[in-house]
This record gives sequence, C-alpha cells and structure tokens, in this order.
Amino acid sequence: MFSVSCFGLLILSSVFVSVHSECSRGCGLALGSYYVWPESNLTIISDFTNIRIEEIVSYNKQLIPNQNSVQSDIRINIPFPCDCINGEFLGHVFKYSLRSGDTYDRIANLYYSNLTTVEWLKRFNTFDPNNIPDTNEKLNVTVSCSCGSDAVSKEYGLFVTFPLRVGDSLVSVANQSNLNLDLGAGSTLLQSYNPGVNFSAGRGIVYVPGRDKTGRFPPIKNSGGIAGISVAAIAGLLLFAGCFYVVYYRKRRVAKIELSPAAEDQSIQDSTVAASPRLTGITVDKSVEFSYEELAKATNDFNISFKIGQGGFGAVYYAELRGEKAAIKKMDMQASREFLAELKVLTHVHHLNLVRLIGYCVEGSLFLVYEYIENGNLSEHLRGSGDRPPLSWPVRVQIALDSARGLEYIHEHTVPVYIHRDIKSANILIDKNFHGKVADFGLTKLTEVGSTSMPTRLVGTFGYMPPEYAQYGDVSPKVDVYAFGVVLYELISAKDAIVKANGSMTESKGLVALFEEVLNQPTPKDDLTKLVDPRLGDSYLVDSVRKMAQLAKACTQENPQLRPSMRSIVVALMTLSSSTEDWDIGSFYENHALVNLMSGR
Ligand SMILES: Nc1ncnc2c1ncn2[C@@H]1O[C@H](COP(=O)(O)OP(=O)(O)OP(=O)(O)O)[C@@H](O)[C@H]1O
Ligand SMILES: *[C@@H]1O[C@H](CO)[C@@H](O)[C@H](O)[C@H]1NC(C)=O
Ligand SMILES: *[C@@H]1O[C@H](CO)[C@@H](O)[C@H](O)[C@H]1NC(C)=O
Ligand SMILES: *[C@@H]1O[C@H](CO)[C@@H](O)[C@H](O)[C@H]1NC(C)=O
Ligand SMILES: *[C@@H]1O[C@H](CO)[C@@H](O)[C@H](O)[C@H]1NC(C)=O
Ligand SMILES: *[C@@H]1O[C@H](CO)[C@@H](O)[C@H](O)[C@H]1NC(C)=O
Repeated sequence: MFSVSCFGLLILSSVFVSVHSECSRGCGLALGSYYVWPESNLTIISDFTNIRIEEIVSYNKQLIPNQNSVQSDIRINIPFPCDCINGEFLGHVFKYSLRSGDTYDRIANLYYSNLTTVEWLKRFNTFDPNNIPDTNEKLNVTVSCSCGSDAVSKEYGLFVTFPLRVGDSLVSVANQSNLNLDLGAGSTLLQSYNPGVNFSAGRGIVYVPGRDKTGRFPPIKNSGGIAGISVAAIAGLLLFAGCFYVVYYRKRRVAKIELSPAAEDQSIQDSTVAASPRLTGITVDKSVEFSYEELAKATNDFNISFKIGQGGFGAVYYAELRGEKAAIKKMDMQASREFLAELKVLTHVHHLNLVRLIGYCVEGSLFLVYEYIENGNLSEHLRGSGDRPPLSWPVRVQIALDSARGLEYIHEHTVPVYIHRDIKSANILIDKNFHGKVADFGLTKLTEVGSTSMPTRLVGTFGYMPPEYAQYGDVSPKVDVYAFGVVLYELISAKDAIVKANGSMTESKGLVALFEEVLNQPTPKDDLTKLVDPRLGDSYLVDSVRKMAQLAKACTQENPQLRPSMRSIVVALMTLSSSTEDWDIGSFYENHALVNLMSGR
C-alpha cells in the first residue's frame, strides 16, 4: 500500500502540509507604500519606521531628489523586513514609542499611513484601546507583506504593501506601479495577486510588485524550492520522531469505518438527526447556502482586517451574517459533488462541544460558515503571546472533558460515524464561557472524496499522528484518541506537540516521548512537576495532574487496541473534574492493562 520509494518525497511535502504553517520564512525585504501626509517629513517617517533616511531615499530616487525635503501628498516606498510571523503570516512588527495623546486611530490612519489598521493594533497589543499608556511604552505595529507567488509569476519577488485610498482603481494602481506592461495586462496581473479584491473600495491593503534600489523588479527567490528548512534538518527531525509522523494519504475510502453518505439523500439527513440524542434541537433545519455576495459584503471583500486565522485549508474571516456572529473559512479548494452532499449532512450535526457548521457557499471557491467562537483556540491560550491570562487547572480539565465529549459524539452517535483525524490544540476552540469545542470535523472527507486539483493530500499534523496511521495510513477512532492524548499533555505542560530544543529543528522531540521518559521512572512525581506549565504556579493538584498524565499515556500507547475509547475517556475525565477524592479508575475501564497504567502500576 505504501510505496517506500516515494517515502522521501512525501516526507518533504508532508512537513509543509502537516505543520500547516502559512509561511515557513519571509523573503527578507518588502516595501510599504507610505502616503506622505502634509505635516510629515522624512525625519518623522524614519522615526516611526526605524528605517534610515538614506535607505528610504534609495528606493525613491526619482521622487525624492533632495533628502531634506519630501513633497507631501505623494506615495513613497519604505523598505522593511518581511518575516514569517508565528509561522502564520508574512509581516513585520514595527515598534512605535507611545507619546501622550496618541490614539490607535491616529497611529494607524496617520502615522503609519494605513499600512496597519486599528483592528490589528488591538489584536497585537494588550493595552486597553481606549486607555493606551502615554509613557515610553512600545506599541506593536504589525504590517503585512507579500513575497510573491510562484503560481502567478516567478518574475516578481519584491512586493509593495499598498493601502488603497479613495479614488484608487485597478487601472490607477496598475499605472502607478509602472509595471512595464500595458495597463490591461498590468491590471490582470495585480488582480491575480489580489484575488477577489475590489481596488475601488477606497480602503484595505493590496500587494503590488515593487522595484529594488536599482529600479528593477527582482524575481522570486528559490522559486519552487522548499524554503527555509534544510533537507538535513527535516531528516533529523524525522529520525527523532521515529519516522512515525508521516502519512501518505491515498485516495482510498476507509469504508469499514466511515460509511459514505450517498448523494443528496434526504433520508440520510433525517437519520443523522434521528440518531443524535444530544441535538440542541432548534436550529436543525437551518442548513444554509449563502451567496458569495452576502459573504463578501460581510467581510468587506474578504479584507485582511476581517481575517482571524489561517489554517492548512485556507484563511478564516470574521463576519456577522443574518444577525449571527460567524467565522468564514475560505477554502483553498473547490467542493466536489460528493463533498457537497457531505456538507449537507455536516450542517445537521449538532453538539454543544462541536463547532457548528451553519452553512456554506460554493461560488468561486468553497466557503464554510461556522458559528463564531469568541475565545480563540486552545493553542493560543497555552502558548499565545502572553496577552491572555493562563487557563486555571480546573478550566483545563473542563476543556479536556468538553473536547472528549465532542469526539465521543462523532465517534459513536452520528450517522455516518466520523473520525476527525486532525485533533490538535489549534482545532479546539474556546467559547466565551471557557468551554471547549472541537472544530473542523468532517473536513478530512473534503480531501478524501477527491477534488481533482488535489490528487493527494496529507491529513493530520506532525506530532499528533499515531504510528499505525503515520506508517500504514490505518484509520480508526484510535487515531483521534492518540491525538487527544497529545492534547492532554499540552494541557499539562503548555508545550508544543513537537518540542524544539534550543530552537533547533534537529533536536526536536515529541511531547509523547518527553512525557513517557518521565512517566516510566519508578517515582515520576518530581520530574512530572517539572513538566507542568510554569504559568500554573502552585495552583494545581499534583495528583490530578498525574492522573491526567496517566490518561494521556494510555491514549498514546503504540498499540491502538490498548488505547481507551473516547467514551471511557469521557468517564475518566468526568471523574477527574468532579471529584478531588480518589477516583475509581478500575470500574471505568474495560481493559486491565489500562487500569494498571492509570493507577500508576
Ligand atoms: N468558528 C470559529 N470561531 C472563531 N475562530 C475560529 C473559528 N474557526 C477557526 N477560527 C480561528 O482560525 C484559526 C484557523 O482555523 P483552521 O481551523 O482553518 O486552522 P487550523 O485549525 O490551525 O488548521 P487546520 O486547517 O488543519 O484545521 C483557528 O485556529 C482559530 O483561531
Ligand atoms: C520634521 O517634522 C518635525 C515635526 O513636525 C519637526 O520637528 C522637524 O523639524 C521636521 N524636520 C525636518 C527636517 O523638516
Ligand atoms: C487612512 O485612511 C483613512 C480612512 O480611509 C483616511 O481618512 C486617511 O486619510 C488615510 N491616511 C493616509 C495617511 O492616507
Ligand atoms: C508586542 O508583541 C510581543 C510579542 O508578541 C508581546 O510579548 C508584547 O506583549 C506585545 N506588546 C504589547 C504592548 O502588547
Ligand atoms: C498614468 O499615470 C500617468 C502619470 O503618472 C498619467 O499621466 C496618466 O494619465 C495615467 N494613466 C491612467 C490611465 O491613469
Ligand atoms: C467596488 O467598490 C466600489 C466602492 O465601494 C463600488 O462602487 C463598486 O461597485 C465595487 N465593485 C465591485 C465589483 O464590487
């Protein structure tokens, strides 16, 4: 089934697909189009951006013949580093020293000439937006950038982050970009770099090819190559991971577990509903097909300021639709006929601990509309930039229990039964009451039922895949159980599923291995406390942590049959969450090996 000869290639591609980063590195340089407002001058611009005046002038030789004065009401290009931020998007964080009287509005709209937005300032800074300090504190001013696209053209590798102004249009921007192309071809090129963007909107950011100091358009670097990570590093990483974490997903159906829903058959939808004992009821009939127009309107044409996330399948935007807060996933793929049928079924699956699919849209690309979950994902809470208070231990236990319930539901109570296959902390969302909800279930079908543009796709994420799945592609609910065990370890330690030692990829180690080393010691207690998230301080029960670690260990056993079912896990976590007394593990486990594990024998 698994061809060894393609192993190497698949390893390479899988690292990129399964790490799910939108970027692996930046391209060194980008330009920001700065509209010189009347009272500004190069000194202030240089001060705000921390870029030397000479450096700025060298990219604008024709526009700034004399560096002591710059004309106002023109656009100049400011060079800045274009980095990959948190593996999520390309951008640069300028550090602005706050002064008295500053407002986010003034900083975004004037000082940074709309290269950033008030929303972004709010997002990347912990200050209360209505009461920002007026001392020398530094503000994170995040500006996005682009490194180009192999798919559009390899001839352009330097890009200008260009805030649109009232009066701009596709043709006027193409004209200003001075592209060595006629305006028709130039406009087409710009539109391809900014798909779906309305250049006449008067606001929002677009990316246009830029010229370097010598006045040339530099081509894209390393085109087609794998940026950033060397082959040796990947090999090292894989050795450490025991060569387990790679899976090649063939277009084969796993018929034994996942019943394939026949095309748009009403009876299937009905049976889904009928077989769902924990349906919330009221919203059952709201399977919604949205028009592209409606979604575009709600997101200002998928403007970057509405973007709230980026996953392996595409970008996620915030929107208010028909009075309900929603998260729209703009998928990087088209929906096949089979998947459309699947979507209808998915909109009928309701559970408190599953992120609800409200509806979808299939005009152009595929859009999935989900209920909006207020508090971000678990991964951000555990390892975010420090702007969220740490989750308390009882809340962590609750989130574990919530997600276990969501998983148990799809494993045992839906028709057809689902296997998530991409459980990880980024896929567990936290609602406003700090309850956990599992996101993205059912999406593996999208990749499986075969869209022609994506013949094969790797499902799952590095660090969360069990050996049998990574090596042989064996799919069973125990794949989710393993990944869930990794999430439990994350809840305890706040560490990544793959722990990087000294920032070096080659010395990475799986969280599972890290915990196992400790749990296999005769008296693991001391070393176990060393693995506990330092942000918990002393406010956790050692015994409760130990039990959760034992449960995680049971979930991540190599033999899938020895792993507990989600149902047993729910029961164990209920006990853990409800009682401080010693829990009676034995009665909950069908499997004696497990009982031994759980009781630390
Ligand atoms: N319904 C939602 N409500 C609020 N935020 C959401 C919602 N769905 C997604 N997000 C945010 O967008 C981010 C990206 O979501 P997405 O599920 O596409 O990516 P992912 O979970 O990181 O990876 P994958 O594509 O493998 O699922 C999430 O981590 C979350 O922060
Ligand atoms: C630039 O503007 C600032 C503030 O308005 C002013 O103090 C400074 O003298 C100006 N510098 C030049 C070179 O014009
Ligand atoms: C930034 O955008 C706002 C709103 O569109 C506009 O009023 C302002 O003039 C812009 N600022 C600059 C420096 O272009
Ligand atoms: C700026 O970002 C850094 C890194 O994400 C973060 O640690 C810091 O707290 C942020 N600053 C503010 C004022 O929020
Ligand atoms: C293009 O720009 C030039 C000067 O920059 C201007 O004279 C010309 O009218 C513009 N053409 C269009 C079609 O906007
Ligand atoms: C683009 O935006 C402008 C200004 O808001 C609007 O008049 C125009 O109809 C929009 N065009 C499209 C195609 O949506």
